[in-house]
Amino acid sequence: MAGRLEGKVAFITGAARGQGRAHAVRMAQEGADIIAIDICKQIDSVQIPLSNPEDLAETADLVKNLDRRIFTAEVDTRDFDALKAAVDAGVEEFGRLDVIVANAGIGNGGQTLDKTGEPDWNDMIAVNLSGVWKTVKAGVPHILAGGNGGSIILTSSVGGLKAYPHTGHYVAAKHGVIGLMRTFAVELGAQNVRVNSVCPTNVNTPLFMNEGTMKLFRPDLENPGPDDMKVVGQMMHTLPIGWVEPEDVANAVLFLASDEARYITGVALPVDGGSCLK
Ligand SMILES: NC(=O)c1ccc[n+]([C@@H]2O[C@H](COP(=O)([O-])OP(=O)(O)OC[C@H]3O[C@@H](n4cnc5c(N)ncnc54)[C@H](O)[C@@H]3O)[C@@H](O)[C@H]2O)c1
Repeated sequence: MAGRLEGKVAFITGAARGQGRAHAVRMAQEGADIIAIDICKQIDSVQIPLSNPEDLAETADLVKNLDRRIFTAEVDTRDFDALKAAVDAGVEEFGRLDVIVANAGIGNGGQTLDKTGEPDWNDMIAVNLSGVWKTVKAGVPHILAGGNGGSIILTSSVGGLKAYPHTGHYVAAKHGVIGLMRTFAVELGAQNVRVNSVCPTNVNTPLFMNEGTMKLFRPDLENPGPDDMKVVGQMMHTLPIGWVEPEDVANAVLFLASDEARYITGVALPVDGGSCLK
């Protein structure tokens, strides 16, 4: 049976690990070839280690093991020229582009907005908002050149739909992603390019599952672990969960990328265990 993305090519940012890797694998399972980029080095304001070249190589192996092709490049989404060069080279190799998943993102800081420092603010907006715009800008000419339409998915967050304390710059960037998504949707709709967002709640990736978040969730404990965080995480959701897995978000992204969603555009889809109901 043909896969849901058979013969298609998807460009994914932040693909070395976490949700980006899950998107690459899930789409490859459904027949897509993948153009995968990731920064594979550190950004100073980010407290947790970002990806490394081995992570991106592991994503490549996972895709190749599914008998799909993958083009990888170490690129910072803040660098438009490098992004464009990478996606141009990937499309040169695979011959087309159908799907863009602007997923790369960071967490930093952890202060209330009035105490947030400018380096944290600037990096946050540069990666989580401007990087998303640059990703689409770099990729969309190839989708348009194909003349077959396409699907673009921008990773926002529940933090793009409502506010959380201690991460206002993240909330601002993710609300901005929804604005980008809606504008691209109206600008590209006539060419049959659909543009949507996914809005995940907490996801079991290094961005969430780290010491800093555990301490933020459980300031009452000296050395909180995942089980301690889960108690608080459950209070955020309608379903009895503290977080979702990267594959849960990948399934939503796959749906939006596939023809099953052919008339869905301009939507901010929560993958949130009912968090938005609270
Ligand atoms: N984990 C969560 O709880 C959660 C919740 C809602 C939304 N999100 C969003 O999901 C997306 C994916 O995050 P994740 O949970 O997989 O975290 P993650 O840290 O595991 O993965 C993020 C990836 O993006 C890469 N990256 C960061 N900055 C980059 C840049 N400038 N250029 C290229 N690559 C860059 C990192 O190296 C890393 O591989 C992010 O946009 C994040 O904001 C995460």
